[in-house]
Amino acid sequence: MANTDSRVTIHMAASIDGFIARKNGSVDWLETSDEFVGGASMDPATVEAFLKTIDCYVMGSRTYETALNFEVKGLGWSYGEKPTFVLTRRELPRTRETIEFCSGDLAQFVNGRLRSTFRTIWFVGGGVVSGECLRLGLADEVRYSVLPILIGDGIPFFDRLERDIPLHLAEVTAYVSGTVELRYEVRRLPAC
Ligand SMILES: NC(=O)c1ccc[n+]([C@@H]2O[C@H](COP(=O)([O-])OP(=O)(O)OC[C@H]3O[C@@H](n4cnc5c(N)ncnc54)[C@H](OP(=O)(O)O)[C@@H]3O)[C@@H](O)[C@H]2O)c1
Repeated sequence: MANTDSRVTIHMAASIDGFIARKNGSVDWLETSDEFVGGASMDPATVEAFLKTIDCYVMGSRTYETALNFEVKGLGWSYGEKPTFVLTRRELPRTRETIEFCSGDLAQFVNGRLRSTFRTIWFVGGGVVSGECLRLGLADEVRYSVLPILIGDGIPFFDRLERDIPLHLAEVTAYVSGTVELRYEVRRLPAC
């Protein structure tokens, strides 16, 4: 039976001009050096407690490949021991037990399998998967961390939406790093 209180969140960080990576996939600009006096700070204990509330992660194969590269460079694996579902139609290396590769009908997978097992489901990108998730009406919430930088060109946060998606601004937090986190709830339109 589906968890009626399950929640699908899309979360990514983007430049002010709406890109999640450079055209070549680089995210070297994610480390910024701004300071916003009076902004909130992220203490490690709060971050750790928050991460514990996430039950599983979903990502596209290109985001997975970036995560694997980070690991190779000694930057660690950001998804802890949580089940991590990688969407792909290719054969990719499986580096840990918590990773599962998936393909097929995304709506059926999310609304059937994921919602029946997990309460807090986090889509962590990239743009192709976020766009698909919104187009199919699967997301309940969008968390958009806007970094204090413009990069001019790159991979957009949401790939090809094809229709407007009304949102409700539910939370805004400005951090000392100059990053602003916006949390929006996806507004469900009444069926015609
Ligand atoms: N700034 C941030 O917070 C952030 C977050 C995440 C990612 N990124 C960056 O964004 C870039 C990747 O984003 P992206 O938009 O190019 O790609 P992506 O969304 O990570 O991955 C897209 C790929 O996932 C697979 N896929 C998507 N939907 C599928 C489905 N329903 N079933 C099966 N497979 C499916 C396909 O790959 P196959 O060819 O394998 O089938 C598709 O080409 C990377 O550079 C990453 O570093 C940044």
